[in-house]
Amino acid sequence: MNKTESFVRKLFLSALAFFILAFSLAYGSQNKGAKLYKTNCAGCHGENGMGMPGLVPPLAADPVVTDRDPAQHIRTVLFGKQGTTINGIKYVIYMPSWAGELSDKQIASIINYERSSWGNHAPWAAPGDVARIRSEGPNR
Ligand code: HEC
Repeated sequence: MNKTESFVRKLFLSALAFFILAFSLAYGSQNKGAKLYKTNCAGCHGENGMGMPGLVPPLAADPVVTDRDPAQHIRTVLFGKQGTTINGIKYVIYMPSWAGELSDKQIASIINYERSSWGNHAPWAAPGDVARIRSEGPNR
């Protein structure tokens, strides 16, 4: 093998390693989000993201979940919410707060799972965004 061939070969192998790493990171985080969603959120919002009519809002096509800015989505999951009218419907149950149960990383994984499931295509949030909003506190 001459020098150029060996260089091209190395280049190809590092590119391959990079793609495998990037793919497994992205897939792993998506998978983690799905698991965390199933454990913590699906009981109310449903595995299919459709909620329960009049009791819990669907997260598919929800205005907060599909907003390009994830701040309100993060705030809702951290600090909970109640009495909101969403698409003309007022919900009876309240949304619990998760700040004490889930880490910034776990909340980002769940949020990104919701932002890319059931037909939703919204920009992702980073654990650092969750940390910033957590430190601002609920009364903002
Ligand atoms: C006990 C049932 C329950 C559980 C568990 C629950 N939610 Fe909710 N969620 C609700 C209810 C009810 C609302 C509507 C709150 C309101 O009326 O203000 C809501 C609202 C939301 C909203 C805001 C929708 C909007 O347009 O304002 C998001 C986002 C959300 N939930 C995400 C989650 C995530 C993520 C989890 C899991 C970590 C979760 N929920 C767990 C009941 C629940």
